[in-house]
Amino acid sequence: MEVIIQPNHHQIASIAANIIRDAILMKPNLVLGLATGSTPIELYKSLVRMHREDGLDFSGVTTFNLDEYVAIPLEHPQSYHTFMAHYFFNHVNIPEESQHIPQNTSENHEEFCTTYEDKIKQIGGIDIQVLGIGTDGHIGFNEVGSSLASRTRIVTLSQSTIDANAPYFNDDKKAVPELAITMGIATIMEAKQCLLLANGNSKSVAIAKAIEGPITSMVPASILQMHPDTVILLDEAAASDLKEVDYYNRSYANKLLLQSQ
Ligand code: F6R
Repeated sequence: MEVIIQPNHHQIASIAANIIRDAILMKPNLVLGLATGSTPIELYKSLVRMHREDGLDFSGVTTFNLDEYVAIPLEHPQSYHTFMAHYFFNHVNIPEESQHIPQNTSENHEEFCTTYEDKIKQIGGIDIQVLGIGTDGHIGFNEVGSSLASRTRIVTLSQSTIDANAPYFNDDKKAVPELAITMGIATIMEAKQCLLLANGNSKSVAIAKAIEGPITSMVPASILQMHPDTVILLDEAAASDLKEVDYYNRSYANKLLLQSQ
């Protein structure tokens, strides 16, 4: 795990955007795994800026989103389909047929989940998976207690996730869907690289447990300790409960030094 700590969330978004830009320049048919929520918004803004101002070409890129609520229409203002269109897809040139978001409208969810996994495999796997983290340590909608070997499936959202997402539903907890489709933890772990972003004090405990605690299904993000290429991008607030900050900072400084030689 590489842990990069920056003064604020603008810097972490900019580093993440640079990693994705460089990967697209190296491999124009990059396969990107995408997240929703407040954390990656700044990253999407940076990528949109790179497309508009620097001509970054997304026409060969394929995307797979982590998750979607079940039982709200795709055009609902809080669906992840709406989110992705609003913050990203409407502003870059990823062909519509290359954008994949779990469908909450299928008649047979189980078959849909298998097909989603198959599509990821057929294209050769996800090159870079963008992740946020819940205050309880979830990734995607893999809640506390999810099997570390789980695949794309229907899950019940935890009360903590429902509470965290209620502000997007006019603070009405009953309006937050109880069910979602999510890529599984094993699905996420097969991505060649994971980029986990976190900012703000509310994430500091989950981040400390995920990076420095034991690997456990009680903190789903802790499985990333077993991933061969995960970059964790944090602002200082999200890093505030980590014990090894000095080591992470020295490691990053040395990496930059080596790159500049
Ligand atoms: C959403 C997702 C979730 C969020 C997490 C943090 O696609 O995968 O795991 O990343 O709930 O949400 P925010 O960024 O809103 O704090």
